Amino acid sequence: MARALEEVQEDLGECRRCELCETRTTIVFGVGNPKAEVMLIGEAPGCKEDLGAEPFIGAAGKYLNELLALAGLERKDVYIANILKCRPPQNADPLPHQIEACTPFLRKQVRAIEPLILVTLGRFSSQFILKTDTGISHLRGRVHLTGRYSVLPIFHPAAAIYDRTKRPLLEHDFALLKLLLEKRHEELGSRT
Ligand code: URA
Repeated sequence: MARALEEVQEDLGECRRCELCETRTTIVFGVGNPKAEVMLIGEAPGCKEDLGAEPFIGAAGKYLNELLALAGLERKDVYIANILKCRPPQNADPLPHQIEACTPFLRKQVRAIEPLILVTLGRFSSQFILKTDTGISHLRGRVHLTGRYSVLPIFHPAAAIYDRTKRPLLEHDFALLKLLLEKRHEELGSRT
């Protein structure tokens, strides 16, 4: 892990800033390429992630790997983190005070990585990054700009596990990610 990210992790420590520390097994800090051009932000660890200390290693993660391939990417190319670093019991929705306690570290991770594109997976990360109450159905499918980042909100992959009608939309949006990445490369030149 690059030093800047290590510093964020040290700063986080054995976090006890909210009650999720009482029920978590591990802190799921984030994983991937510290120089990633694409950073994906999910919601919160589930059961598998809580045990494995890595984001998206359950069923949604398996589907995410397939989606990344549509964008010409593998997991080793990207960095993946979540809005919350600890699992909410019963996979409950993140609560405002939990988001408030946890996201300063996510912001520091984004600043340490400086990706070209932020892919926000699902309602919570999309609304947090874009500072909006607009629903994910209205946000997805187009590129938003916030500060220096291009943001691509996409349905959460888990949504398509229960509702297969969302799959074509997810697949469309990861194909859009490929085009966006190509466009950013043309504009800026590759960082590799
Ligand atoms: N869902 C998420 O949002 N994040 C994970 O890490 C796993 C499932």
